[in-house]
Amino acid sequence: MSKQFKRTLITAALPYANGPIHIGHLAGVYVPSDIYARYLRLKGEETLFVCGSDEHGIPITIAARKEGVTPQDIVDRYHSLIKKSFDEFGITFDIYSRTTSDIHKQTATDFFQKLYDKGEFIEQETEQYYDEEAKQFLADRYITGTCPHCQYEKAYGDQCESCGTSLNPTDLINPKSALSGAVPVRRKTKHWYLPLNKHESWLRQWILEDHKEWRSNVYGQCKSWLDQGLQPRAVSRDLDWGVPVPVEGGKGKVLYVWFDAPIGYISNTKELLPNDWEKWWKDESTKMIHFIGKDNIVFHCIVFPAMLKAEGSFNLPENVPANEFMNLEGDKISTSRNWAVWLHEYLQDFPGKQDVLRYVLTANAPETKDNDFLWKDFQARNNNELVAILGNFVNRALVLTQKYFDNKVPERHELTDYDKETLNNFKSLKQTIEKNLDNFKFREALKDAMNLARIGNKYLADTEPWIVAKTDMPRTETILNIALQITGNLAIVFEPFLPFSVKKIKQFLNIDELSWDQLGSMDLLSVGHELGKSELLFEKIEDEAIELQVQKLLDIKKANKEKEYKAQPIKEEIAFDDFTKLDLRVATVLECERVPKTDKLLRFLLDDGIGKRTILSGIAAYYPEPEKLVGKQVCFIANLAARKMRGILSEGMILSAENADGTLTLIEPSDKVLPGSKIN
Ligand code: 2FM
Ligand code: ZN
Repeated sequence: MSKQFKRTLITAALPYANGPIHIGHLAGVYVPSDIYARYLRLKGEETLFVCGSDEHGIPITIAARKEGVTPQDIVDRYHSLIKKSFDEFGITFDIYSRTTSDIHKQTATDFFQKLYDKGEFIEQETEQYYDEEAKQFLADRYITGTCPHCQYEKAYGDQCESCGTSLNPTDLINPKSALSGAVPVRRKTKHWYLPLNKHESWLRQWILEDHKEWRSNVYGQCKSWLDQGLQPRAVSRDLDWGVPVPVEGGKGKVLYVWFDAPIGYISNTKELLPNDWEKWWKDESTKMIHFIGKDNIVFHCIVFPAMLKAEGSFNLPENVPANEFMNLEGDKISTSRNWAVWLHEYLQDFPGKQDVLRYVLTANAPETKDNDFLWKDFQARNNNELVAILGNFVNRALVLTQKYFDNKVPERHELTDYDKETLNNFKSLKQTIEKNLDNFKFREALKDAMNLARIGNKYLADTEPWIVAKTDMPRTETILNIALQITGNLAIVFEPFLPFSVKKIKQFLNIDELSWDQLGSMDLLSVGHELGKSELLFEKIEDEAIELQVQKLLDIKKANKEKEYKAQPIKEEIAFDDFTKLDLRVATVLECERVPKTDKLLRFLLDDGIGKRTILSGIAAYYPEPEKLVGKQVCFIANLAARKMRGILSEGMILSAENADGTLTLIEPSDKVLPGSKIN
C-alpha cells in the first residue's frame, strides 16, 4: 500500500563540529540529500531540507582538551567552517543551525521531560570508572590501558586502535585515566535508559514487514539488530558538556549526544518555522526522509523512531537511504590520520570546480557498497565525460548558433526520422531518470542524464551542421534548433546534480526558470529568442594537477607511518666475539648501474682499498639515478660468502637503513675516509 504524501521533509545527518568536512561526508550524505531536495523543488513539490552541526559529545570535549580551549571554542570554529563548505558546494539546506542553540536545548529538554513524565524511561544504577583526581566519571574514550588481545599499551576503553578489537573499559589491563593519569576506581552512577526491548515488536513489524523497500544495506543492518534482541540504552551521561538532564537526580549529567542530536532535526525546523513547524513533523501527509551514512543506521532506524513513538505525536521516517563509505585511494577516510580530501582545501586547489567533485562523487556514489575515490578517476571523469560529452555538446550548439544565426534560436522545419528518434529517446529516458531519483538511485539517474548529453553529442556529430550549412540553411536551422532545445533539457536534468554548471547554461541560453515537468519538451526556447554570451562549460584537468594531489597523499601516508613507527624489538644478545667475526668496511663507489631486466637490483663496482669488488644490492627502487652514486662512500660486509644473482657474483653486502615506510637509504660515513677503512 503506497501512501499519498503532500510534502517532504528531508534531513541530512548533523555532522560533528569537531573537524572540517571531507569528500566522504559529501558523498555519503550531503550530495545525495541535496540532489533529492533540488529534484523535488524542481518538480514544484513542497520540500523542507534541514541540517545543522552536532555540537555535543565526547569527541568535541577531547578535541578541546587537546588544544587547551573550551568545547564552545571548538564548535564555534568548526560550525562556521562546515557551514561555509556547504554553502560553497551548493548544498541547499533551508536551515543549517546547531545543537548548542537555545531553541535546541529547550526542545531536547522538553522531549526528555515528556518521555520521563510518561514513564518511558527506566532508571538503572551501574558501576563505571571514576577519576578521583579529576573528580569525574570517565567516558570509555577517557580510559586507556593495555589491550588484552595484542598488548598494545595505549588502547582506549572502547577500542584498541592497534588491533581494532572493540573493548569494554573493564577489559583493559592496567587502566589509567586519560585526564589525570590516575588509576580509575569503580563507582556507582545512575542513568536513564530507553527500554528498546519494549519497542521491539512494533519495530519488527514497521521495518521488516512494512518497509521491505528500504535499501538492502539498511534493511539488513536493522534485521540483524532486531534478530539479536534489543536492549535498554542509556540516554544520559556523566559529563559537563551537553544538554543537562532536566529531572531530579540529573545534576552533573547531560543527555547522551545520540539522544539530543536527532532532536536537532526538530529544533532546526522549529527555529526556521516557529509557527508552522508541526506540519512537517506531525501531519501524516508529510513524508520524512533521513539521509545518513551507514554508521548511523541503528540510531535513525531504531533508536530515534523509538524515541518518536514514545513521545507519541511525531511521524516516523518513510525511508532512510543510508550510503556505505567512500574510501580514499584504497584506505578508509580518517580525520585523525588526515587521510581525506578536505572540501576547503579542494576549493583552494580546484577553484570553481565544485560540480566536478559533485559529479565524481555521485557517479561513484557508495550506494550499495563502499567505493573508492581515486584522483585518476576524478581526472578521467572530468576530461572524458564532463568536458568531452556534456561540455563539448553545449559549447558546440552555442558556438554554431552564434556563427550561423547571430546568436538567435533558428526555426525548426520538417523533422527527419533521425530527428524524431533523437527526441523520442529524450522522452523515454525522462521516466527512467524519475524512477531512479524517486528510489534514491542517484548514481543511475546521473548515468542516464549523461546519456542524454551523449545523445545530443552524437546528434551533432551525425548531422554535421557545419557541413550542411554550406548547402542547406533550412536544414541547418532545424538541427541547431533541436540542439538548443536539447541544451535546455540538459539544464533541467542536470540541475540537481551540477547546479553551478546549470546556472551557467541558463545564462548562455538566456533563460531563468525551468521546471522538471518541462523535461522532454522541444519548445523550451522560442524561435528568435536571443541567447546570452557563452564560454567553455568545463575545462580539462591536466596531469600535473592530479600528480600534485597524489603526492600530497603520499606525503600524508609517509608522515602517518612515521608517527606510528615502532622500532623493532632488539634481537637476541650476542657475544663480543660474534660481533668481531663480521668484517665491516667502507668502500668508494666506482660504478653503479641497474642490473638489466630487474626492478630491484643495482650493481656496484667498489674500490675496497685492496682492489675492486662487485656487490649487488636490492635498492634500485630508491635510487632511480644510480650513476649519481659514483664517488660516494658506502658501508659493506666484506667477509660475507659471495653468491651469484642473475649470473653475477656478489661479493658482500652493502648496508642500508630502513625507513618507517619500508624505503631504504644507504649508510655513508659522516666524513670521507680511505676506502677499505674498518668499521669498529
Ligand atoms: O555520525 C555523525 O557524524 C553524527 N554526528 C550524526 C548525527 S545525525 C543526527 F542524529 F543528528
Ligand atoms: Zn589490541
